[in-house]
Amino acid sequence: MSNVTLEQIVSLCKRRGFAYQSSEIYGGFNGVYDFGPLGALMRRNIKDAWVQYMTGGKDEVVLMDGSILGPESVWQASGHVEGFSDPMVDCLECKKRYRADDINLEKACPHCGNKKWTDIREFQLMFKTELGSLAESATTAYLRPETAQAIFINFKNVLTSSRVKIPFGIAQVGKAFRNEITPKQFLFRMREFEQMEMEFFCKPEQADEFFTKWVELRKQFFIAIGITPEKIRLREHEADEMAHYAKCCTDVEYEFPFGFKELEGIANRGNFDLSQHAKHSGKDLSVYNDETKDSYVPYVIESSVGVDRLFLTLLFDAYHEDEIEGEKRLVLRLHPRIAPITAAILPLSKKLSEGAEKLYRELKKKGVSVQYDAAGSIGKRYRRQDEIGTPLCFTYDFDSVDDNNVTVRDRDTLKQERIAIDAVPDYIAKVLAR
Ligand code: GAP
Repeated sequence: MSNVTLEQIVSLCKRRGFAYQSSEIYGGFNGVYDFGPLGALMRRNIKDAWVQYMTGGKDEVVLMDGSILGPESVWQASGHVEGFSDPMVDCLECKKRYRADDINLEKACPHCGNKKWTDIREFQLMFKTELGSLAESATTAYLRPETAQAIFINFKNVLTSSRVKIPFGIAQVGKAFRNEITPKQFLFRMREFEQMEMEFFCKPEQADEFFTKWVELRKQFFIAIGITPEKIRLREHEADEMAHYAKCCTDVEYEFPFGFKELEGIANRGNFDLSQHAKHSGKDLSVYNDETKDSYVPYVIESSVGVDRLFLTLLFDAYHEDEIEGEKRLVLRLHPRIAPITAAILPLSKKLSEGAEKLYRELKKKGVSVQYDAAGSIGKRYRRQDEIGTPLCFTYDFDSVDDNNVTVRDRDTLKQERIAIDAVPDYIAKVLAR
């Protein structure tokens, strides 16, 4: 069964070292999280899977890594200084602040029970800062609220410095910051988060075709990394909910315990961003078309997903409770490529540590994410690994010393088989390639 609650996920994350509230010992820092040893490994696996999927396909996609700080001019051109805000309202009694679209102003404040509200005001979501000291006339800068703009302003650099031709994409993984009025649902809406975005540049007449293609490809990505297909749906945006830059937009939504919500957005941004940056910077960002002998500003298809929101989705989707021989077990059915630990080495007795540790060290040397666990009964050790989603457990027993075989146990089927120690690396590689 999988009727998991947000509280169960938060508790598992803290208990097993996936994610913690940031600055917890100082009372916590709202909307910001730190990732522990297992969380860090799982995030790396998510990002690797995304990069491999985006750059390994038929269409050409290259990587870049842009800066987090940007001058005001970039965000003026992109429209963020003017328009990147949410409507907010404050309770006049307790001063608690809400997103106006999250709360029914006909009803009382959920915090203090009074019904006196301020007028609705627009709240700028970008974090503003100053470069240099105030004494030497500091420059206004912003922490980026999306990674995309670094791609747009480097479009010509990438085009002229690498062997790419339109149509092609630029993909990027990196931090983004938004001063969300009400960060909530754990990693779902945060103030500091990470995005995986791709901007695909094409001729205007190719935009519809590439939009349809990328919507389908992106949906397939989530299925390829193990998310239950029935919990994913596509939803086209209505005209009145579209971002200021978008010509059309489709969300990939996931069925969270709090309803179907956006996991990723795919948008046809037209030539809005390149045209804006050309206008504001005075630089020509158009491209010459050899066939028609004229210039055009490319259209852009964007896909954008949050690492943290996907991390949370994968945990929700993988969390299962079942029963083995009358005993309850919690198991994370994570895809082997996403699971933080791929294999656990379990010596049946402490006396067997020499041979078991040798196998452990060899796998580590080969770059396998592996854990060594010799503490407690074998059943307890299996449960510990199930709870963190380890797909394979290798038991080294008294026979292993003589026959050089180990018993491998599959997390999902619970099937056990005896294989040669020499065959373990290939066995793991096959499971990772699933
Ligand atoms: N460049 C387009 C863009 O940023 P968005 O819909 O605002 O579009 C894209 O964000 C994705 O980034 C979302 O689908 C979500 O996965 C993630 N995301 C956005 N805001 C977030 C937040 N406050 N916390 C966590 N993830 C967020």
